[in-house]
Amino acid sequence: MVRSPADVGRALLLLAILAFAPHANAQTLTDSSARPKVLLVATGGTIAGVQDAPGTLGSYRAGTLTAEQVLASVPELSRHAQVEAEQFSNVASPFITPAQWLALSKRINTVLRERDDIAGVVVTHGTDRLEETAFFLYLTVRSDKPVIVVGAQRPATGISPDGPINLLAAVRTAVAPQARAKGVLVVMDDRIVSAREVRKQYQRVGGFTTGEMGMLGVVGSGGPEFFFAPARRFGPASEFDVTAIDSLPRVELTFSYPGGTGPRYDTVPAGLVVATTGLTRAENTALRALRQAGVVVVTSFPSGDNVNAPPRAPAPGSDTLPTNATAADSTAREERRGPPSVVSQHLTPAKARILLMLALTRTRVPAEVQRYFLTY
Ligand code: SIN
Repeated sequence: MVRSPADVGRALLLLAILAFAPHANAQTLTDSSARPKVLLVATGGTIAGVQDAPGTLGSYRAGTLTAEQVLASVPELSRHAQVEAEQFSNVASPFITPAQWLALSKRINTVLRERDDIAGVVVTHGTDRLEETAFFLYLTVRSDKPVIVVGAQRPATGISPDGPINLLAAVRTAVAPQARAKGVLVVMDDRIVSAREVRKQYQRVGGFTTGEMGMLGVVGSGGPEFFFAPARRFGPASEFDVTAIDSLPRVELTFSYPGGTGPRYDTVPAGLVVATTGLTRAENTALRALRQAGVVVVTSFPSGDNVNAPPRAPAPGSDTLPTNATAADSTAREERRGPPSVVSQHLTPAKARILLMLALTRTRVPAEVQRYFLTY
């Protein structure tokens, strides 16, 4: 109820604000030059894929639309950021190579180092190999600025594509101050997850999970909301500076299984990851031979969900050598055993392979490699 001239004045002021507010709002929303800048680096995948016969599962081609076309399909992005697009590649992600991981990481490190005006980077990527590229970037991008990797499980021209909403959520996260210093993130299906933990569990919307580790936050209607932060080493603290690295060491990946006899190679790799819950005797023998030949062997639970303890030195008194054994006997025994295996901790075998590749750019000593697996 209006009771005095002052009340009348306040009511008029309120009416004026209500009359002008929508225009003021529209003005701000269209003035995207006031928004923070994001660099979108497009690599291909289903987020840039087309389905010539929407509604069917046929005629699908990943990595077809250009970065500019993908951007143009989400005009709402301009409410949150000025997005610059860069076409890094345009392929289905199984064709992404370790050489491209290096090139992508170098490009992002350079941009974040040299362009103060860039608030964050969004990488669009196929979902098949998204977790591997994201983890490589997590280990090697030495910046606190947000780097978000995003994909889609339905092609851009199919029915109900998830790419546009995922891209919008990724860009909103890339400009969010709370996303700084959280390491490389994957944003899919409104979830914000660490690149260290993310994995593609299935090829359907909602298929990106973190096993038992949970997500860091969500992207709701109000934007990104964080609840947790990663605790392991990444970002500026990472020891993996790839600036001067032109290629990565060869690291193989193998499965152990009942009756398995272990891998044998004509030319041994620098490293090997064995996905196993427990080795057969023959596998143990084969792996010992590889370690003795200088291969750094890492064991990893197939699920990636086990937290393996590193092997401990034998307790004093548990030595099986006779009491009158000489130093030479002890050396001979060590030679028979070969260098120790390294255990990965809560990493999928594919991600353990990436960490081993990077660790081997710095050392071939198993105990040092183990330190990397306990740190990252
Ligand atoms: C790809 O990984 O490039 C194809 C599959 C996808 O993006 O979902």
